[in-house]
Amino acid sequence: MYHDFNYEATLASSLRAQWQLDDVLRADQELDFSRNLMPESLARTAAVASLNPFEQRILNQISAHQYLSIFGVVEEFILPFLFDHARPALRGDDWRVRAILNFASEEAKHIHLFKRFHAAFVRGFPVDCQVIGPSEAIGAEVLRHDPLAVGLVILMIEWMTQQHYLGSIRDDGDLDPLFKSLMRHHWMEEAQHAKLDTLIVDALAEGRSERELAQVTNEFFQIAGFLDKSLQVQARFNVESLERGLGRTIDGRDALIVQQYRAARWTYLISGLTHDRFKATLEASSPKMAARVAAALTPRQPQVAA
Ligand SMILES: [Fe+2]
Ligand SMILES: [Fe+2]
Repeated sequence: MYHDFNYEATLASSLRAQWQLDDVLRADQELDFSRNLMPESLARTAAVASLNPFEQRILNQISAHQYLSIFGVVEEFILPFLFDHARPALRGDDWRVRAILNFASEEAKHIHLFKRFHAAFVRGFPVDCQVIGPSEAIGAEVLRHDPLAVGLVILMIEWMTQQHYLGSIRDDGDLDPLFKSLMRHHWMEEAQHAKLDTLIVDALAEGRSERELAQVTNEFFQIAGFLDKSLQVQARFNVESLERGLGRTIDGRDALIVQQYRAARWTYLISGLTHDRFKATLEASSPKMAARVAAALTPRQPQVAA
């Protein structure tokens, strides 16, 4: 076995790590807009030479709005996936039933928490930031695929939050402590979700033929491609929000859109796809699938004339 996760131990860790919404952000608490909200390793706004430090901070905050919105969207398709998976697994293993229901309940709490942060953001930020959606349509597009492909996408998301937290603690810049706390609390519970989702994916992959697994890989790429396109659209929305906030058109706006899209691609796709634990599950589910994902992540070498 490539891991030692089990439902009983994971449920016990989950119950120990649990927190309440008010431990992270009370409904009347305000974010500190004099600081950055997102770790620089994710927002990558300090590198934008066409913006001064004040403008970089505004873009960093728009990137935080994107974070809240995207996690709001993905948590909303994780929840129905878990219910679909829990229903046929209601009998047999009591630890499994309780662990999956607790997992679902924590994701419902995360939706609530991201909404609470979003409301605080809207209260304190001077312009409306447009986001992709609606979340129901994005969820329907993802969930129409094979449950194994969806389970793998969710697993990628669970592991990426571990990477995000590390980014936020390594960031010694001027980060808002409440946003830092959001990353930390999400990480605490997601660490257990990643284990449970590994067990769910193992069960969904069991007994699949090579042909089915090849099709699952295609569907996994379709979902990742759909999310990638959505990030591209969101990067344009973000730069438009920045322009509305500053009341001017940014010099080199197209280059800025590409730079911010690349930052989002790392944050919401690559940081999960390259996580060692995620790669191990891919390998255990299907070595061919793991090889196809690895090939898609390898930068193409420029053709050299003979
Ligand atoms: Fe979550
Ligand atoms: Fe989760």
